[in-house]
Amino acid sequence: MTERPDSTVQNFDELAEVLEKYGKVPGSLITILQKTQDIYGYLSLDAINYIALKTGIKPAKIYGVATFYTQFRLKPIGKNLIMLCQGTACHVNGSKIIEEAITEHLSIQDGETTEDGLFTLNNVACLGCCSLAPVMMVKNSDGDETYGNLTKDTVRKALDEIRERG
Ligand code: FES
Repeated sequence: MTERPDSTVQNFDELAEVLEKYGKVPGSLITILQKTQDIYGYLSLDAINYIALKTGIKPAKIYGVATFYTQFRLKPIGKNLIMLCQGTACHVNGSKIIEEAITEHLSIQDGETTEDGLFTLNNVACLGCCSLAPVMMVKNSDGDETYGNLTKDTVRKALDEIRERG
């Protein structure tokens, strides 16, 4: 049997609840996709097909919307989601330099996941702790951890420590 590119078996119970609420509400496709991504972390082809089946919207149209908006991810996120703030305070305090350090250190760009599935990098708007600029938050199964006053060295060290934890 050939392996499908998107072979994660997903349980659509939660999605079914979302579709029960929004499935027949005109103009709610983006809301449905946002909620789907909140549940699964990304929009799988299976989820898109399931939404199509339940709403009657063509899969190609859903896929088109999902690829048009940068907020949507079509691939699973890594174990650690790096949310690097690019808000004004962080920008002024060197967030681009921190982004360069991350992309060099992990060999990924914004929106990408490392090959080992450990990290995904996402540039985000203000995280609400501007006094610590430049800031990143790392989200994983243990919760969220905030790293402030970052420099190239401290961000590399933080990433190495996270990697060591596995
Ligand atoms: S601008 Fe980065 S935390 Fe506010």
